[in-house]
Amino acid sequence: MIKTRIIPALVAATAMTAMGGMLSGMATAAETEQHIEDVSFSYEGPFGKFDRFQLQRGFQVFHEVCSACHGLRYLSFRELGSETGPAFPEEQVKAIAALYEVADEEGEPGDTRPGKPFDNFPANTGAGAPDLSLMAKARAGFHGPYGLGINQLINGIGGAEYIYSLLTGYTGEEVEEAGAILYENTAFAGGKISMAPPLDEGLVEYAMHGGEEGQSGAKAPEASVEQMSEDVSAFLMWAAEPKMTERKQSGFRNIVWLAGLTVLLYFTNKALWAKVKRKE
Ligand code: HEC
Repeated sequence: MIKTRIIPALVAATAMTAMGGMLSGMATAAETEQHIEDVSFSYEGPFGKFDRFQLQRGFQVFHEVCSACHGLRYLSFRELGSETGPAFPEEQVKAIAALYEVADEEGEPGDTRPGKPFDNFPANTGAGAPDLSLMAKARAGFHGPYGLGINQLINGIGGAEYIYSLLTGYTGEEVEEAGAILYENTAFAGGKISMAPPLDEGLVEYAMHGGEEGQSGAKAPEASVEQMSEDVSAFLMWAAEPKMTERKQSGFRNIVWLAGLTVLLYFTNKALWAKVKRKE
């Protein structure tokens, strides 16, 4: 009786596993394997902080290259002056804001005016490119669903790694599909993206130095494709979560506080029950 029930169940289970295997096999054959490069960023780990010079360089790449097609509409210019972010001086934040045209609410619909620090970066939908403000979180799969929580804590959520891999993952091959040119890319799901490789060796001339704080004469790094990709990815990670450093710091304070409370409660508990225990 038991056997007659178990055997058909086993057969069904085996058949389903085999089918599942076939299906996933087909999927991998159709979509080329995505390759994501692991990059160690300064902000990873429980005490990691953004490297302000890297963020400044990353902003420069965004500004000079990516902003031609992509918006950054959830980030305000004022955030660029944040101490735990790029920490641009106030005057520079004002100057940067004024380089962007934003919607003028006081004028006719469609009117624009130069940006002010309290404005957000404009949206940019002209080229059909997605907004980048939350991209580093939206594509945070690398250490995310596949890794453990602790892995994310130590290595970050992986969105910046995805962007880095996308920017450095062009193979140079182009294909025409339904009249549009697609570019082969080893990081993009499906293997072909409509964004042309945006970066070229030396495309940006880094204006900001690359050194540690205090070494104001430090030389800016060479603008290789890898360097620019790393910098702009770090910048976009920061843009997606400008308060990451504060969050980590308050998280750490809370843990210390809770650890202290635990010790205190342990001894309080002992002291309270000591009398009762002695009587026995
Ligand atoms: C010439 C216009 C153009 C420029 C310049 C450009 N992009 Fe794109 N980008 C696009 C388009 C179009 C898409 C949508 C591609 C698609 O879905 O096939 C896209 C998509 C993306 C995506 C999303 C990929 C995904 O997983 O959906 C990221 C990330 C990205 N771009 C980053 C950048 C960065 C960083 C820069 C600057 C270094 C940049 N782009 C410069 C046009 C551009």
